[in-house]
Formats: sequence, C-alpha cells, structure tokens
Amino acid sequence: MAAIGSAVGLGNIWRFPYVAYKNGGGAFLIPYFVALFTVGIPLLIAEYSVGSMFRKSAPMAMRSIHRKVEWVGWWGVFSAFLIAIYYSVLMAWCLCYLFHSFGLVWQPDASSFFFNDFLKAGTSLSLGGGINMQIVFALLAIWTSIYLILYKGVKSIGKVVAITVPLPTILLLILTVRGLTLPGASMGLEFYLAPDFSKLSMPSVWLAAYAQIFFSLSLAQGIMIVYASFLKKGSDINNNAFITALADGGTAFLAGFAVFAVLGYLAYQTGMPMEEVAGGGIGLAFITYPTAIAKMPILASFFGVIFFMALLTFGIDSAFSMVEAITNGMKDKFGVSREKITLIICIMGFLLGLLLVPGSGIHWIEIMDHFVSNFALVFIGLLECLVFGYVLGGERIRKYANDVSDIRVGRWFSIMLKLFAPIVLISIAAASLVELMVNGYGNYPSWSILLAGMIVAASFITAIVFARLKCREEQ
Ligand code: TRP
Repeated sequence: MAAIGSAVGLGNIWRFPYVAYKNGGGAFLIPYFVALFTVGIPLLIAEYSVGSMFRKSAPMAMRSIHRKVEWVGWWGVFSAFLIAIYYSVLMAWCLCYLFHSFGLVWQPDASSFFFNDFLKAGTSLSLGGGINMQIVFALLAIWTSIYLILYKGVKSIGKVVAITVPLPTILLLILTVRGLTLPGASMGLEFYLAPDFSKLSMPSVWLAAYAQIFFSLSLAQGIMIVYASFLKKGSDINNNAFITALADGGTAFLAGFAVFAVLGYLAYQTGMPMEEVAGGGIGLAFITYPTAIAKMPILASFFGVIFFMALLTFGIDSAFSMVEAITNGMKDKFGVSREKITLIICIMGFLLGLLLVPGSGIHWIEIMDHFVSNFALVFIGLLECLVFGYVLGGERIRKYANDVSDIRVGRWFSIMLKLFAPIVLISIAAASLVELMVNGYGNYPSWSILLAGMIVAASFITAIVFARLKCREEQ
C-alpha cells in the first residue's frame, strides 16, 4: 500500500495527462505501456528483490552488491530529493487552491489570477516576481505534515497510507463520473485518445514515456528499495510489483479521463478549439481545470475542493516516501538518529523550496522536472539495470523473486534488465540529447538549461562524495 502511495501521485493526475497530450495524445499510450512492461515492471521487481535481499536502504544495498557502486544509490536518493523540492511547492499550490475553491476566487480569468495574483509572476526567469506569503505558509504546512507523519517511524506510514491511498482514488472516481456526464466530454476524450502516430518516430516521445515511468513508479530513487527492505522475509515480490505497476498505470489512465472530459466541457462551453484549451502544460491543474470547474452547473466549489484534495492526498505519500529513502540511507551509513535526520531533511526541503516560491518559480519547476526526470532518472535507471543485471546477476534476482512469489517471471526478465532496457535507455537518451542540442528546450534560454544541467551534475558529485565517506562501522 505504501509503495502504491509512493507511485501514485501528482505524476498521475497532473503530469501524465499533460505529458500524454504533448507527446501524441492517444498514441502516447503505446510507448507508455511499452515502457511499463519493458523497464517499469522488471526494474520494480529488481528493486523489491534488492531491498528485501539486503534489508538496507538503497546506497547501502548498492554497497553490498559492490563497494564501487554505492554512489548510484546516493545519486538516486538525491535526485528524489530534487524532485521533492519542487513537488512540495506544487503541493503547496494545491493546498492554497483547495481554499480558493470555496470562493472560486480565480474567476473570471483563471490564467491571470494564477500568474498575476497567485504566483505574482514576472516575465523573467531570474529570481524575480513577488512573493505570495500564502504559498510560503502552505509549503511550511506541507513539510510539517511530512515531518509529523515520519518522525515516529514506519508504523505510522502504514496508518497514513490506509487513508491517503483509497480516499483520493474514490475522489478521482467521483471526478471522472462528473466529468463524463458533462456536455462536450466526448470531445475531450476524443482529443485525449485520438492517436497522432507521426509522433512515435520522435525519440523524445519515447524518452518522455520512459521518464514518465521512472517518475511515476518512483523508480531509480532508492524509494522502492527502502520500502522493500521493511517487508517481512518471504513476502511476495512479483505479485506486488505487478499490483503496484498496474495500479499506477491504471490511475494515470483514469485521471486522463477525468481531466480531458472536463477540458472537453470547457471547449464546449467557450467554443474554443480543444488544442487551445488543452495546451496548458504545468498550468493545466491550476488554470484550465479550475476554469472548467467554475463553469459547472452545480456544486462547482465542491468539485474544486475534491480535485485539490485528491491531488494533496495522492501527493503526500509520494513526498514522504522520498524522505524515507534519504533518512534510511543516512541512518544506515552514518548511524545518525532517524528523528534528527528526518527533521534536517524536512527543513532543507522547505528552505530550498522557498527558492521556487517567487513568481519565476513556475519556469524553474518545469525545467527541473524535465531535466531530473528525463536525464537524471533515465541515466540512474540505466546504471541500476547494469548493476542489477551484471554485477548482482539478473538470473539470481529472478530466482530470488520467483522463490517467494505466486507469479513466476520467465527468462524475459533478465533479458529486459541486461539487454533490452540498457540498449533502449542509452539510445533514447543519446538521441534526445542530440534533439536538445539542435532544437533547445521550449522557449527557454540556454543558460537556464545549463543551470539545470549543473544542478543535476551537483547531485551526481555529492553522491560520489557521500559514497567515499567512511561508514559508521569503519570509523
Ligand atoms: N511517483 C510520484 C508521482 O507519481 C512522483 C515522485 C517520484 C516523487 N519521485 C518522487 C515525489 C520524489 C516526491 C519525491 O507523483
């Protein structure tokens, strides 16, 4: 349940629909499901196995596999931390919007409200724009909740996820039914599902699919490894991997219906073409969706509250799973106390998140999200496949997992891990890098892309440094 909680999050409701839309609509489902089966599920099985085999957090499990690869584990958890920094800011926006839903205050122009009144965004990328204190307090509330949930230990995670996984799923179902019964919904669905096959020849579309899988399944970040390390010996692995992966893919697919049905309604109401309505990117959840909600015939505020409540409850377990990955890494390696390190991580997350609160933050969130998922996660995923496949041994993992599982995986598992996944990940990463060099990224200036690259590089260097520090037992 906790693993599903980590996997299902804003990635499914906010990220999946807009990434799918940007990369070919219905046709995106093909690379998405290919990525789920060729890398998502095999790597999930491998991460669960490694966690349960070594019963350690990712960096120390990596160290047990081979001393020289400990840094891969650290790089994963630091990347998760980078994600958490902006992820918690997005959650803070959701929290503010939850309250704004009561008065539907974004009317009449949700876009101008979002950029001018809410974010106080300037036009420049530099740390400009005003600061909305509301967001600062919301961010503080988010990190405080994470801390309060975690400081007592794993036991309370179990209690929290028993609510924060089923509840938002029910809310999402309500939103889907509401969406589908609005006039114009079919137009939105057609737009969501109508395939643009020409996009499938672009490497960046495939990269986006694999990146979405890593992001959404919380893979390559030490999260699933640390959760599996808490499992009882002999717990089923393959079954859990399939359940987690399918619950995650299913929720994303369902969220697509909830979101696009409502966008269809908006197009129908305003007479705008779907292309214009759906072109929201990051703003989808904060501009387009609220606009549509405000136009609902009855209970508009209620559906606004439900939408943002679903986002928040879906998101919180993803956010705290990341903290678990780091704190356990530090605890295993340096023997520091869990309470202390949890507090430090939450404070750091909050302070670094403040950098993204000023108006220009939204651009940085988009850039960070793109680069951390599309490059860092894909690269770490590649390294994990190589370490698990060759150093630990694909067949050894398969045997370990099959021994405790109802569903047995065949040889395809090792082939995916050792050959298919590495080849695919290397080629799409290389091809997309070329695409990036040639076309740039969106309308962003190259210095901002360079800066994003430097942040990723800094996480890599810190990982190497951490791996070289002495362990508790060696001191
Ligand atoms: N899996 C989460 C989702 O789909 C996203 C996520 C991945 C995440 N890694 C994270 C969130 C680290 C916070 C911290 O929403």
